[in-house]
Amino acid sequence: MKPSDNFATLAAHLGHFDTSAGLAPQIQTSTTYRRDVDYVPMSEGNVYGRDHNDTVRHAEAVLAQMEQAKSALIWPSGMAAIAAVFRGLGAGDRVLLQSGIYWGTTGWVRQFCSEQDIELREIDFSDLDIVKDHMTFEPTLVFCETPSNPWLRVTDLTALRTMFPSSVLVVDSTAATPYLTQPLSMGADLVIHSATKALNGHSDVLAGVILTSDLNPRWTKLAQERAMAGAIIGPFEAWLLLRSLRTFAIRMRTMCDNALRFAEFAKAHPLVEDVFYPGLKTSPYHALATRQMNGGYGYLMSVLVRGDRKMALDVVSRLKVFQRATSLGGVESLVEHRHTIEPHTGIPENLLRLSIGIEHIDDLTADLDQALRNA
Ligand SMILES: Cc1ncc(COP(=O)(O)O)c(C=O)c1O
Repeated sequence: MKPSDNFATLAAHLGHFDTSAGLAPQIQTSTTYRRDVDYVPMSEGNVYGRDHNDTVRHAEAVLAQMEQAKSALIWPSGMAAIAAVFRGLGAGDRVLLQSGIYWGTTGWVRQFCSEQDIELREIDFSDLDIVKDHMTFEPTLVFCETPSNPWLRVTDLTALRTMFPSSVLVVDSTAATPYLTQPLSMGADLVIHSATKALNGHSDVLAGVILTSDLNPRWTKLAQERAMAGAIIGPFEAWLLLRSLRTFAIRMRTMCDNALRFAEFAKAHPLVEDVFYPGLKTSPYHALATRQMNGGYGYLMSVLVRGDRKMALDVVSRLKVFQRATSLGGVESLVEHRHTIEPHTGIPENLLRLSIGIEHIDDLTADLDQALRNA
């Protein structure tokens, strides 16, 4: 299963050559499986498609190797994966949630915790002095997103682990991906990715993955819960994800290279007020990100244009290469005016969140330049 420890080789080969002579992975579409005359399942572990599926298992095995995890579970979306982790909690539990993260997570967790009588605190994890004040809260679960979307704040995962030694530490690593960071090796118990983003990378699959450092009862319960509740991804989606993973390393390398050059260009532009990107030497998170993110700083950034909401929306409307759409991590560069989406969260009206794709860097910088100058 493991041709090499080298990430790019692992991704390109998918570890499937030992089960099939085909260079492309197989797909299992069956929803049900035969039993023999003694009524014993003829294929171990395969009874009904809602429980599990070989193509899904294959994608999970590859993702687990990339993340150096003990095991992986794929869910039908990133939010489904996040919700599954929180659903393991109950009344009386305490949650410490990072503030200023993906709004979908924050909104869902707030509602869930209030309905389930779970105490919730939201704080900025990138400021360890603030975090220290909450150590006595003794949270059951600590949920961190690094780098955070859309503020691009970076959290010191090793420090967070040390501060909360007995909490379940969950890290949403969607913006870093296993190409740049392996949170399990820094003490996280669970890592989550929206595989809809860079892992799949082609804007055509919704998926989420949870990865674990330990095959403990909590993990067994999560796996049972997924099977019983039928929250499994379809085999075609799993196969598309596998197909995408083959080029994951090279996509990430290009996206990270492009993003760094784009951020430097934008930061120096007279019509840009600021750029949030940990790859910039001026970023307060640069030193930490250099230590914690291996080989790049990711594909996500936020740009504050000089001016107000109207100026920001004018710039967005004039972009030609960047596509106006939500989401991130795809091969095509996307722009989003976050204040339109989450006006209540205190997001600046002049903030544009950008996901940098694999286009030629000159086209991306020229696009921003013309949009800024003509707005
Ligand atoms: C950081 C982060 N986590 C989780 C999600 C949710 O993932 P999905 O859209 O696959 O449900 C998103 C979606 O944008 C995200 O940005």
